[in-house]
Amino acid sequence: MIFSEREQRVKQLAEQLREIEERLIPTGLHVLGRAAELKEKADLLKMVGSFDRPEQGVRSLPRLVSEGLEIDTHELSVDAAHSETRELIDGIVSEAVRRFCRDGADAAIDYLTSRANVDRQQARSTLQLLSNVSAQLDSNHEIESLTSALRGEYIQPGPGADVVQNPNVLPTGRNTHAVNPYSVPSQAAFARARHAADALLRRYVDEHGRYPRALALVLWGLDNIKTQGEGVAQALWLLGVRPVRDALNRATEIEVIPLEELNRPRMDVVMTVSGIFRDLFAPTMTLIDKAVRRVAELDEPLEMNYVRKNVLEKSESGGEFDAAVTRVFSNAPGNYGTNVNFMVIQSAWQDASALGDLFVTRKCFAYTRDSKGRTVEGREALELMNDALGRVEATYQNIDSFEVGITDVDHYFEYLGGISKAVEVQSNARPAIYLSDSLSPQTTIRSLEETVRLETRAKTLNPKWYEGMLKHGFRGVAEIENHVANTFGWSATADAVDPWIYTEISQTFLLDESMFERLQELNPHSLESLAKRLLEAHERGYWNPAEEILERLREIVDRLTHQLQK
Ligand code: BEZ
Ligand code: MG
Repeated sequence: MIFSEREQRVKQLAEQLREIEERLIPTGLHVLGRAAELKEKADLLKMVGSFDRPEQGVRSLPRLVSEGLEIDTHELSVDAAHSETRELIDGIVSEAVRRFCRDGADAAIDYLTSRANVDRQQARSTLQLLSNVSAQLDSNHEIESLTSALRGEYIQPGPGADVVQNPNVLPTGRNTHAVNPYSVPSQAAFARARHAADALLRRYVDEHGRYPRALALVLWGLDNIKTQGEGVAQALWLLGVRPVRDALNRATEIEVIPLEELNRPRMDVVMTVSGIFRDLFAPTMTLIDKAVRRVAELDEPLEMNYVRKNVLEKSESGGEFDAAVTRVFSNAPGNYGTNVNFMVIQSAWQDASALGDLFVTRKCFAYTRDSKGRTVEGREALELMNDALGRVEATYQNIDSFEVGITDVDHYFEYLGGISKAVEVQSNARPAIYLSDSLSPQTTIRSLEETVRLETRAKTLNPKWYEGMLKHGFRGVAEIENHVANTFGWSATADAVDPWIYTEISQTFLLDESMFERLQELNPHSLESLAKRLLEAHERGYWNPAEEILERLREIVDRLTHQLQK
């Protein structure tokens, strides 16, 4: 069956191309006070129009089109074989948005009804949303707001999220406010979290034939603000509990989901929360800690309750229950960050285990309430954390923003990379590392390696992305160099970067002469760092290119260093 295998490969390839094509690619940095340009705006509006928003009576354009054409959308989302149909729908949606930008809402509605038999009234609700978003994208009061703030004047408040998730963030230039921590997780977040967490477990079981002994989750403050607590809800769902609201409508209680309904074992979850999360979500810290303790005390078969199983094993070997059940860790009070990013970027480590150890040293402060009800707020618990991480077989973090991915900032590798390395040190095995992409209408779970490839193809190596950056001159080159350094961070912490990625980066930015000259002209400092980083990747064993490439990189470094010393 060589042919069908080949066909299978071609389909997978088509699927990967579609994935890259569908990604919203930032085409440059935001410039304070400047409104979005037309092309950028059309891409953004198309994405805004791709989500159902039942709370606003808005249905997604792809859904309206597929209903008009009488296509079964469920089949489309699960079966890669329908790519032509998906392309058809996507083409109609793109054209509708293009007409909207050029000729207005009525033109787009006319097109949708005549081309795809879309219901006029429903199309109108969705186009109304796009009109509002479009008008707000055109106006920009960021400079006035900034100067007002500097004068100490009042600034209108606005929610914090990204525009696709919550178009109410517009207009920009307002004073971002957080959420009421007692409202987290929202019901919508809990519903979405079930999908993501189930998909995560399915993927692990498909690859390993069983559930992981324990998982480690990274929870960030801003993400949980933006998603109304999707990360928190994922943790609760993995444990097999749901949040319950008290008489004041605050999520302070939990309810155990019966095993018959859960239909799988309760997972053991170690949660490392950022300093920002700890500061913003005190009641939520209590909620997740309470959930773990409740689950540990359930009288259930051990093979259906991994928390209880792991806690009992630990208690039997002499540990106290309060210690054995500790699962919520963060920085010491008043401290933030893991510093793993600094250690990586400054090349300040020899053995990679130092990166995992640093993560634990920074994050090993327990936040819990003991059996007597006494709160523990940031008690150093290095051994407890190491012990809990020693059982972890999968690590995971949500990506929740259209704007920031795993190579845009150093924080993803400092957290998810850092904890994965810490697990590897403690368990003597690299965990399976996953990210979810709760930004597409269907939640997708990807391995870290897949995510690095996707980000590299969609951004770092994509002319649309780097040309957008290069419009910003000096700063743009620095952004490219940042992306390369952050990619390197995934080699350092998680060995998750394919060697071809470093080769292609070298070819694109250094070995291509005209590109090299442009970058050298714009920002030789960042270019020198980029070249040195690639050589470091080789020296540390992440990449072993032809000697000729290495020779040329060394020459380039010499030349740039010489130029900069003059
Ligand atoms: C947070 O939102 O918790 C966070 C943001 C950036 C880096 C680390 C944490
Ligand atoms: Mg930073």
